[in-house]
Amino acid sequence: MNPELTKSEIESWLRETDPVELEKLWQAADRIRRETVGNAVHLRGLLEISNYCRRSCAYCGLSRHNPSLARYRMTAEEILDAARQIAAFGYGTVVLQAGEDDGIEAAWLAEIIRTIKQSTPLAVTLSLGERSLDELRLWRQAGADRYLLRFETSDPELFRLIHPPVPGQTLSRIDLLRQLRSLGYEVGSGVMVGIPGQTYRSLAEDIDLFRRLDLDMIGAGPYIPHPHTPLGTGLLKPSVCPAEQVPNTEEMTYKVIALTRLVCPEANIPSTTALATINRESGRELGLQRGANIVMPNCTPPHYRQLYEIYPGKACINETAQACQSCLAQRIRSIGRTLGTGPGGRQHRTAVPNPQSDSDERSAPNQ
Ligand code: 5AD
Ligand code: FES
Repeated sequence: MNPELTKSEIESWLRETDPVELEKLWQAADRIRRETVGNAVHLRGLLEISNYCRRSCAYCGLSRHNPSLARYRMTAEEILDAARQIAAFGYGTVVLQAGEDDGIEAAWLAEIIRTIKQSTPLAVTLSLGERSLDELRLWRQAGADRYLLRFETSDPELFRLIHPPVPGQTLSRIDLLRQLRSLGYEVGSGVMVGIPGQTYRSLAEDIDLFRRLDLDMIGAGPYIPHPHTPLGTGLLKPSVCPAEQVPNTEEMTYKVIALTRLVCPEANIPSTTALATINRESGRELGLQRGANIVMPNCTPPHYRQLYEIYPGKACINETAQACQSCLAQRIRSIGRTLGTGPGGRQHRTAVPNPQSDSDERSAPNQ
Protein backbone atom coordinates (compact mmCIF):
# COMPACT_ATOMS: atom_id res chain seq x y z
CA MET A 1 0.00 0.00 0.00
CA ASN A 2 1.36 3.41 -0.93
CA PRO A 3 1.71 5.55 2.23
CA GLU A 4 1.61 8.69 0.05
CA LEU A 5 -2.15 8.34 -0.13
CA THR A 6 -4.03 11.02 -2.02
CA LYS A 7 -7.10 12.62 -0.48
CA SER A 8 -9.32 10.57 -2.81
CA GLU A 9 -7.59 7.35 -1.79
CA ILE A 10 -8.07 8.26 1.88
CA GLU A 11 -11.75 8.83 1.16
CA SER A 12 -12.10 5.45 -0.58
CA TRP A 13 -10.53 3.73 2.41
CA LEU A 14 -12.98 5.48 4.70
CA ARG A 15 -15.80 4.06 2.57
CA GLU A 16 -14.30 0.55 2.41
CA THR A 17 -16.39 -2.15 4.06
CA ASP A 18 -14.84 -5.39 2.77
CA PRO A 19 -13.20 -7.10 5.79
CA VAL A 20 -10.50 -8.63 3.59
CA GLU A 21 -9.47 -5.18 2.32
CA LEU A 22 -9.70 -3.66 5.78
CA GLU A 23 -7.41 -6.33 7.16
CA LYS A 24 -4.77 -5.04 4.70
CA LEU A 25 -5.23 -1.54 6.08
CA TRP A 26 -4.84 -2.70 9.71
CA GLN A 27 -1.72 -4.68 8.82
CA ALA A 28 -0.11 -1.81 6.92
CA ALA A 29 -0.77 0.62 9.79
CA ASP A 30 0.56 -1.82 12.36
CA ARG A 31 3.71 -2.41 10.34
CA ILE A 32 4.43 1.30 9.87
CA ARG A 33 3.77 1.89 13.58
CA ARG A 34 6.28 -0.83 14.49
CA GLU A 35 8.91 0.45 12.06
CA THR A 36 8.67 4.11 13.05
CA VAL A 37 7.71 4.40 16.72
CA GLY A 38 8.45 0.83 17.81
CA ASN A 39 6.72 -1.53 20.20
CA ALA A 40 6.68 0.72 23.26
CA VAL A 41 3.30 2.08 24.38
CA HIS A 42 3.78 5.38 26.20
CA LEU A 43 1.40 6.21 29.02
CA ARG A 44 0.33 9.81 29.63
CA GLY A 45 -1.26 10.46 33.03
CA LEU A 46 -4.36 12.56 32.41
CA LEU A 47 -5.44 15.08 35.06
CA GLU A 48 -8.75 16.82 34.41
CA ILE A 49 -7.99 19.92 36.46
CA SER A 50 -11.23 21.89 35.92
CA ASN A 51 -14.61 21.32 34.28
CA TYR A 52 -15.53 25.01 34.05
CA CYS A 53 -15.89 26.16 30.46
CA ARG A 54 -16.71 29.52 28.89
CA ARG A 55 -17.66 27.92 25.56
CA SER A 56 -20.90 26.42 24.37
CA CYS A 57 -19.80 23.62 22.04
CA ALA A 58 -22.85 21.79 20.77
CA TYR A 59 -21.31 18.34 21.31
CA CYS A 60 -19.66 18.70 24.71
CA GLY A 61 -21.14 18.02 28.15
CA LEU A 62 -18.88 20.66 29.75
CA SER A 63 -20.58 23.43 27.74
CA ARG A 64 -21.54 26.41 29.88
CA HIS A 65 -25.08 25.80 28.68
CA ASN A 66 -25.23 22.55 30.66
CA PRO A 67 -26.67 23.69 34.01
CA SER A 68 -27.01 20.18 35.41
CA LEU A 69 -23.25 19.75 35.83
CA ALA A 70 -21.62 20.61 39.19
CA ARG A 71 -18.38 22.46 38.53
CA TYR A 72 -14.95 21.97 40.15
CA ARG A 73 -11.42 23.26 39.85
CA MET A 74 -8.55 21.31 41.46
CA THR A 75 -6.32 23.20 43.87
CA ALA A 76 -2.60 23.61 43.23
CA GLU A 77 -1.88 21.10 46.01
CA GLU A 78 -4.25 18.52 44.52
CA ILE A 79 -2.64 18.93 41.08
CA LEU A 80 0.89 18.61 42.48
CA ASP A 81 -0.02 15.55 44.57
CA ALA A 82 -1.57 13.85 41.56
CA ALA A 83 1.44 14.75 39.38
CA ARG A 84 3.78 13.17 41.95
CA GLN A 85 1.65 10.05 41.91
CA ILE A 86 1.83 9.95 38.10
CA ALA A 87 5.63 10.17 38.31
CA ALA A 88 5.64 7.39 40.94
CA PHE A 89 3.63 5.17 38.55
CA GLY A 90 6.51 5.56 36.08
CA TYR A 91 4.43 7.43 33.48
CA GLY A 92 6.59 9.91 31.56
CA THR A 93 4.04 12.65 31.01
CA VAL A 94 1.31 14.50 32.87
CA VAL A 95 -1.47 15.98 30.75
CA LEU A 96 -3.26 18.92 32.37
CA GLN A 97 -6.65 19.16 30.73
CA ALA A 98 -9.64 21.44 31.42
CA GLY A 99 -12.52 23.26 29.81
CA GLU A 100 -11.73 26.78 28.63
CA ASP A 101 -11.68 28.08 32.20
CA ASP A 102 -10.96 31.77 32.88
CA GLY A 103 -10.47 30.77 36.52
CA ILE A 104 -7.23 29.04 35.46
CA GLU A 105 -5.08 32.13 35.80
CA ALA A 106 -1.95 32.23 33.70
CA ALA A 107 0.49 33.02 36.54
CA TRP A 108 -1.11 30.45 38.88
CA LEU A 109 -0.74 27.68 36.31
CA ALA A 110 2.78 28.80 35.35
CA GLU A 111 3.85 28.30 38.97
CA ILE A 112 2.33 24.79 39.00
CA ILE A 113 4.12 23.91 35.74
CA ARG A 114 7.43 25.19 37.16
CA THR A 115 6.99 23.12 40.33
CA ILE A 116 6.17 19.93 38.38
CA LYS A 117 9.19 20.44 36.14
CA GLN A 118 11.50 21.09 39.11
CA SER A 119 10.28 18.26 41.31
CA THR A 120 9.55 15.44 38.82
CA PRO A 121 11.03 14.10 35.55
CA LEU A 122 7.64 14.48 33.84
CA ALA A 123 6.99 16.05 30.46
CA VAL A 124 4.07 18.47 30.81
CA THR A 125 1.32 18.52 28.20
CA LEU A 126 -1.41 21.17 28.32
CA SER A 127 -4.91 20.75 26.90
CA LEU A 128 -6.75 23.88 27.98
CA GLY A 129 -8.54 25.08 24.85
CA GLU A 130 -8.05 28.35 23.01
CA ARG A 131 -5.98 30.63 25.25
CA SER A 132 -4.23 33.92 24.44
CA LEU A 133 -0.76 33.95 22.91
CA ASP A 134 0.58 35.67 26.05
CA GLU A 135 -0.72 32.86 28.23
CA LEU A 136 0.60 30.16 25.90
CA ARG A 137 4.01 31.87 25.85
CA LEU A 138 4.12 32.18 29.65
CA TRP A 139 3.32 28.48 30.12
CA ARG A 140 5.93 27.48 27.58
CA GLN A 141 8.50 29.62 29.39
CA ALA A 142 7.48 27.93 32.66
CA GLY A 143 8.47 24.60 31.11
CA ALA A 144 5.36 23.15 29.44
CA ASP A 145 6.49 20.82 26.65
CA ARG A 146 3.41 20.04 24.59
CA TYR A 147 -0.05 21.40 23.77
CA LEU A 148 -3.12 19.52 22.56
CA LEU A 149 -5.87 21.34 20.69
CA ARG A 150 -8.13 19.30 18.45
CA PHE A 151 -9.47 21.15 15.42
CA GLU A 152 -12.48 18.74 15.60
CA THR A 153 -13.33 19.10 11.90
CA SER A 154 -11.60 20.84 9.00
CA ASP A 155 -14.99 21.91 7.59
CA PRO A 156 -15.16 25.61 8.59
CA GLU A 157 -18.97 25.82 8.32
CA LEU A 158 -19.57 22.73 10.45
CA PHE A 159 -16.97 23.93 12.95
CA ARG A 160 -18.69 27.30 13.37
CA LEU A 161 -22.04 25.57 13.82
CA ILE A 162 -20.93 23.18 16.55
CA HIS A 163 -18.35 25.46 18.16
CA PRO A 164 -19.86 28.95 18.41
CA PRO A 165 -17.15 31.64 18.40
CA VAL A 166 -16.65 34.02 21.32
CA PRO A 167 -16.31 37.80 20.84
CA GLY A 168 -12.80 39.11 20.39
CA GLN A 169 -11.38 35.88 19.17
CA THR A 170 -9.32 36.41 16.03
CA LEU A 171 -7.20 33.28 15.64
CA SER A 172 -8.67 30.06 14.27
CA ARG A 173 -7.64 26.77 15.83
CA ILE A 174 -5.42 26.09 12.82
CA ASP A 175 -3.72 29.49 13.33
CA LEU A 176 -3.28 28.64 17.01
CA LEU A 177 -1.67 25.30 16.19
CA ARG A 178 0.88 27.10 14.02
CA GLN A 179 1.54 29.66 16.78
CA LEU A 180 2.01 26.86 19.33
CA ARG A 181 4.64 25.31 17.12
CA SER A 182 6.50 28.60 16.77
CA LEU A 183 6.47 28.96 20.56
CA GLY A 184 8.39 25.67 20.66
CA TYR A 185 5.64 23.33 21.85
CA GLU A 186 5.24 19.82 20.50
CA VAL A 187 1.81 20.17 18.96
CA GLY A 188 -1.13 17.80 18.96
CA SER A 189 -4.55 17.97 17.39
CA GLY A 190 -7.30 15.68 16.25
CA VAL A 191 -10.95 15.18 15.45
CA MET A 192 -14.11 13.40 16.50
CA VAL A 193 -15.26 10.66 14.16
CA GLY A 194 -18.92 10.71 13.11
CA ILE A 195 -20.05 14.13 14.35
CA PRO A 196 -23.46 14.89 12.80
CA GLY A 197 -22.76 16.82 9.60
CA GLN A 198 -19.34 15.23 9.00
CA THR A 199 -19.00 13.87 5.46
CA TYR A 200 -16.54 11.29 4.12
CA ARG A 201 -14.95 14.03 2.03
CA SER A 202 -14.42 16.31 5.02
CA LEU A 203 -13.01 13.48 7.16
CA ALA A 204 -10.54 12.68 4.35
CA GLU A 205 -9.67 16.39 4.35
CA ASP A 206 -9.09 16.20 8.15
CA ILE A 207 -6.58 13.38 7.70
CA ASP A 208 -4.86 15.26 4.89
CA LEU A 209 -4.67 18.31 7.16
CA PHE A 210 -2.95 16.22 9.87
CA ARG A 211 -0.27 15.52 7.28
CA ARG A 212 0.03 19.12 6.10
CA LEU A 213 0.34 20.41 9.68
CA ASP A 214 3.02 17.78 10.39
CA LEU A 215 1.50 17.20 13.83
CA ASP A 216 3.48 15.56 16.61
CA MET A 217 0.39 14.03 18.27
CA ILE A 218 -2.96 13.12 16.72
CA GLY A 219 -6.04 11.96 18.62
CA ALA A 220 -9.22 10.63 17.02
CA GLY A 221 -12.13 9.16 18.93
CA PRO A 222 -15.75 8.39 18.10
CA TYR A 223 -18.32 11.12 18.69
CA ILE A 224 -20.56 10.00 21.58
CA PRO A 225 -23.86 11.91 21.94
CA HIS A 226 -24.34 13.69 25.27
CA PRO A 227 -28.02 14.02 26.30
CA HIS A 228 -27.58 17.56 27.68
CA THR A 229 -26.23 19.05 24.46
CA PRO A 230 -27.97 20.38 21.32
CA LEU A 231 -26.23 17.83 19.06
CA GLY A 232 -26.94 14.99 21.49
CA THR A 233 -30.67 15.72 21.70
CA GLY A 234 -31.01 16.35 17.97
CA LEU A 235 -32.10 19.95 18.61
CA LEU A 236 -29.23 20.95 16.33
CA LYS A 237 -29.22 18.86 13.17
CA PRO A 238 -26.59 19.81 10.59
CA SER A 239 -28.01 19.02 7.18
CA VAL A 240 -26.15 16.39 5.20
CA CYS A 241 -27.06 13.77 2.64
CA PRO A 242 -27.43 10.52 4.67
CA ALA A 243 -25.16 8.58 2.29
CA GLU A 244 -22.38 11.10 2.98
CA GLN A 245 -22.70 11.15 6.78
CA VAL A 246 -19.76 9.42 8.51
CA PRO A 247 -21.03 6.94 11.14
CA ASN A 248 -19.65 7.31 14.68
CA THR A 249 -18.67 3.66 14.85
CA GLU A 250 -15.79 1.71 16.26
CA GLU A 251 -14.73 0.49 12.81
CA MET A 252 -14.70 4.01 11.37
CA THR A 253 -12.49 5.12 14.27
CA TYR A 254 -9.99 2.34 13.51
CA LYS A 255 -9.93 3.43 9.87
CA VAL A 256 -9.07 6.98 10.93
CA ILE A 257 -6.34 5.77 13.30
CA ALA A 258 -4.85 3.47 10.66
CA LEU A 259 -4.93 6.05 7.85
CA THR A 260 -3.46 8.66 10.19
CA ARG A 261 -0.55 6.32 10.95
CA LEU A 262 0.03 5.84 7.21
CA VAL A 263 0.12 9.55 6.40
CA CYS A 264 1.87 10.68 9.63
CA PRO A 265 4.18 7.74 10.37
CA GLU A 266 6.11 9.45 13.19
CA ALA A 267 3.18 10.88 15.12
CA ASN A 268 2.25 9.82 18.62
CA ILE A 269 -1.30 8.50 18.25
CA PRO A 270 -3.42 7.54 21.28
CA SER A 271 -5.89 4.74 21.50
CA THR A 272 -8.50 7.00 23.10
CA THR A 273 -10.81 6.66 26.08
CA ALA A 274 -13.77 7.33 23.77
CA LEU A 275 -12.79 4.23 21.79
CA ALA A 276 -12.50 2.22 25.03
CA THR A 277 -15.94 3.57 25.94
CA ILE A 278 -17.65 2.12 22.87
CA ASN A 279 -15.76 -1.18 23.16
CA ARG A 280 -14.74 -1.75 26.78
CA GLU A 281 -13.59 -5.29 26.07
CA SER A 282 -10.93 -4.63 23.46
CA GLY A 283 -11.24 -1.10 22.00
CA ARG A 284 -7.96 0.08 23.49
CA GLU A 285 -6.05 -2.99 22.33
CA LEU A 286 -7.49 -2.89 18.80
CA GLY A 287 -6.59 0.81 18.52
CA LEU A 288 -3.02 -0.08 19.53
CA GLN A 289 -2.95 -2.88 16.94
CA ARG A 290 -4.21 -0.63 14.14
CA GLY A 291 -1.78 2.27 14.35
CA ALA A 292 -1.86 3.75 17.86
CA ASN A 293 1.10 3.82 20.28
CA ILE A 294 -0.13 5.90 23.23
CA VAL A 295 -2.67 5.44 26.05
CA MET A 296 -3.79 8.22 28.37
CA PRO A 297 -4.88 6.66 31.67
CA ASN A 298 -7.16 8.89 33.69
CA CYS A 299 -5.44 9.92 36.93
CA THR A 300 -8.01 12.50 38.05
CA PRO A 301 -9.13 11.98 41.67
CA PRO A 302 -12.30 9.83 41.47
CA HIS A 303 -14.72 12.39 42.96
CA TYR A 304 -13.77 14.92 40.27
CA ARG A 305 -13.58 12.33 37.50
CA GLN A 306 -17.34 11.75 37.71
CA LEU A 307 -17.88 15.44 36.95
CA TYR A 308 -15.66 15.62 33.87
CA GLU A 309 -18.46 14.32 31.73
CA ILE A 310 -17.59 15.40 28.18
CA TYR A 311 -19.72 12.46 27.02
CA PRO A 312 -21.67 9.86 29.04
CA GLY A 313 -20.56 6.37 30.03
CA LYS A 314 -16.82 7.11 29.97
CA ALA A 315 -14.64 4.03 30.49
CA CYS A 316 -12.88 3.70 33.85
CA ILE A 317 -15.05 6.35 35.50
CA ASN A 318 -15.12 4.45 38.81
CA GLU A 319 -11.59 3.10 38.75
CA THR A 320 -8.69 4.36 40.81
CA ALA A 321 -5.49 5.47 39.09
CA GLN A 322 -3.79 2.38 40.59
CA ALA A 323 -6.42 0.03 39.13
CA CYS A 324 -5.98 1.54 35.65
CA GLN A 325 -2.21 1.29 35.96
CA SER A 326 -2.18 -2.47 36.54
CA CYS A 327 -5.06 -3.08 34.11
CA LEU A 328 -3.28 -1.21 31.32
CA ALA A 329 0.10 -2.81 31.95
CA GLN A 330 -1.55 -6.20 31.64
CA ARG A 331 -3.53 -5.25 28.51
CA ILE A 332 -0.43 -3.85 26.80
CA ARG A 333 1.65 -6.94 27.59
CA SER A 334 -1.19 -9.21 26.45
CA ILE A 335 -0.82 -7.89 22.88
CA GLY A 336 2.96 -8.31 22.89
CA ARG A 337 3.84 -4.67 23.41
CA THR A 338 6.08 -3.08 26.02
CA LEU A 339 5.56 -0.18 28.43
CA GLY A 340 7.35 2.95 27.27
CA THR A 341 9.80 4.67 29.57
CA GLY A 342 10.83 8.32 29.66
CA PRO A 343 8.87 11.27 28.25
CA GLY A 344 8.13 9.58 24.90
CA GLY A 345 8.16 12.71 22.76
CA ARG A 346 8.12 12.63 18.99
CA GLN A 347 10.94 10.60 17.52
CA HIS A 348 12.06 12.02 14.21
CA ARG A 349 12.70 9.34 11.69
CA THR A 350 16.19 9.33 10.18
CA ALA A 351 15.59 6.63 7.60
CA VAL A 352 12.62 5.77 5.45
CA PRO A 353 11.31 2.40 6.66
CA ASN A 354 11.60 -0.50 4.30
CA PRO A 355 8.04 -1.42 3.32
CA GLN A 356 9.06 -5.08 2.93
CA SER A 357 10.74 -5.32 6.32
CA ASP A 358 9.07 -7.23 9.09
CA SER A 359 11.67 -6.25 11.64
CA ASP A 360 10.78 -5.27 15.19
CA GLU A 361 13.66 -2.83 15.41
CA ARG A 362 13.03 0.90 15.69
CA SER A 363 14.65 3.14 13.14
CA ALA A 364 17.33 5.17 14.93
CA PRO A 365 15.78 8.03 16.86
CA ASN A 366 17.69 11.28 16.79
CA GLN A 367 17.08 12.30 20.37
N1 5AD B 1 -17.97 12.66 22.11
C1 5AD B 1 -16.67 12.35 21.86
N2 5AD B 1 -15.65 13.20 22.04
C2 5AD B 1 -15.94 14.42 22.52
N3 5AD B 1 -15.14 15.47 22.78
C3 5AD B 1 -15.91 16.49 23.23
N4 5AD B 1 -17.21 16.11 23.27
C4 5AD B 1 -17.25 14.83 22.82
C5 5AD B 1 -18.29 13.90 22.59
N5 5AD B 1 -19.57 14.19 22.84
C6 5AD B 1 -13.70 15.48 22.51
C7 5AD B 1 -13.33 16.70 21.66
C8 5AD B 1 -12.40 17.47 22.56
C9 5AD B 1 -11.84 16.39 23.45
C10 5AD B 1 -11.26 16.89 24.74
O1 5AD B 1 -12.96 15.57 23.71
O2 5AD B 1 -12.64 16.26 20.50
O3 5AD B 1 -11.40 18.16 21.88
FE1 FES C 1 -8.89 1.70 33.70
FE2 FES C 1 -8.62 -0.85 32.76
S1 FES C 1 -7.71 1.00 32.05
S2 FES C 1 -9.61 -0.14 34.57
